[in-house]
Amino acid sequence: MRALESVRELLRPELSGLVAYVPHEPEGIEVKLDANEAPPCGPRVREVVAQALAGVQLERYPDPRALRLKEAIAKRTGAKPADLLVGTGSDEVIALVTNALSRPRRSNALGVILTPTPTFVMYRITARGHGLEPIEVPLDAAWDLDVPATTRAIKESQPSVVFVASPNNPTGNRMSLDRLEAVIEACAGSGVSGHLGGAGDAALVIVDEAYVDYSGPGTSLRELRTRYPHLAILRTVSKIGLAALRVGWLEADVSLVDEIDKTRQPFNVSETSQVAVAAVLEDAWDEVQEGIARVVAARERLAMAIAQIEGFFVTPSAANFLWVKTPIPSERVLAHLVRDGILVRSFHKSGPHLSDQLRITIGDDTQHERLLTSLRKVTANA
Ligand SMILES: Cc1ncc(COP(=O)(O)O)c(C=O)c1O
Repeated sequence: MRALESVRELLRPELSGLVAYVPHEPEGIEVKLDANEAPPCGPRVREVVAQALAGVQLERYPDPRALRLKEAIAKRTGAKPADLLVGTGSDEVIALVTNALSRPRRSNALGVILTPTPTFVMYRITARGHGLEPIEVPLDAAWDLDVPATTRAIKESQPSVVFVASPNNPTGNRMSLDRLEAVIEACAGSGVSGHLGGAGDAALVIVDEAYVDYSGPGTSLRELRTRYPHLAILRTVSKIGLAALRVGWLEADVSLVDEIDKTRQPFNVSETSQVAVAAVLEDAWDEVQEGIARVVAARERLAMAIAQIEGFFVTPSAANFLWVKTPIPSERVLAHLVRDGILVRSFHKSGPHLSDQLRITIGDDTQHERLLTSLRKVTANA
């Protein structure tokens, strides 16, 4: 008997509907624009990281409270260190929150997580993996929140957590502020006029700002937290050149952070990651900002160049990638690009309304030239 057979009855039934994350990288890829990573970081970042790593006492456990890292994040974002919950990437933070808020409401058999769709897949996968039910509400034709449909779904499904990525992955746009606020208000408990009603029954709204560094200064919604206690902000350093270090964080009221923190493994973020990210935030932040500005400028140039190719349409982006509508099925465009050694993400497997959508990460000018040359051929050959 195989190991799986011997314990099959014990596995969460949801697992049979899940597929493990296995990145697909075909042979011969030379231009990798599929994972929303930033271009390589500069010499100052590398230098401060090397110095920080050289000082790590490898025999010691990491700081379980990540105090220096939280101070450094607080200094760069304006958050209070006590309001921060730090994880091994925001993926871990999503799992921590989902796990801590997994108790079903009285009206529900399972805990419910609500998200717009299309969006970052880990909300749905994490919900399923923790035995919660994910409810997805389609975005409107401009990839913005559909407020009537979302508030209706909130009322009907009584979610525990609502995740809204803004800028959204894969669509790259920010959600309109008035729509986002309408959704936040619909999730308020009895303390604020909302739809859920009854003491302590707000849904936690998490605005995932993984890409906010590319949206321009002052675009974070973190200050709305003063008005909405059930609002939390999710951030990461993965998209600004430090994905290898796996550091993300939640900013929420200290009372909630302290509760969720009880479920966190004490040494969840390695010491090497803590000191490396802290050092970059403290001593190489200007260089990180220069990299972000370069990506934003390159994004605008690439968006314009793709839009000039017949049949392609680019959604205005506030992130480090473009959401591109293709004149022929995106699966065929992807195959053509892969033959030319270029990898982007196609969403043809995510439903018929996304069968002509590609997500293209911003790279450097040389990579963009190769991409554009290949894209121009795809329509010429179609
Ligand atoms: C919207 C969004 N949130 C979170 C993440 C995960 O980031 P991390 O690398 O911090 O786990 C991603 C990664 O693609 C993302 O697109």
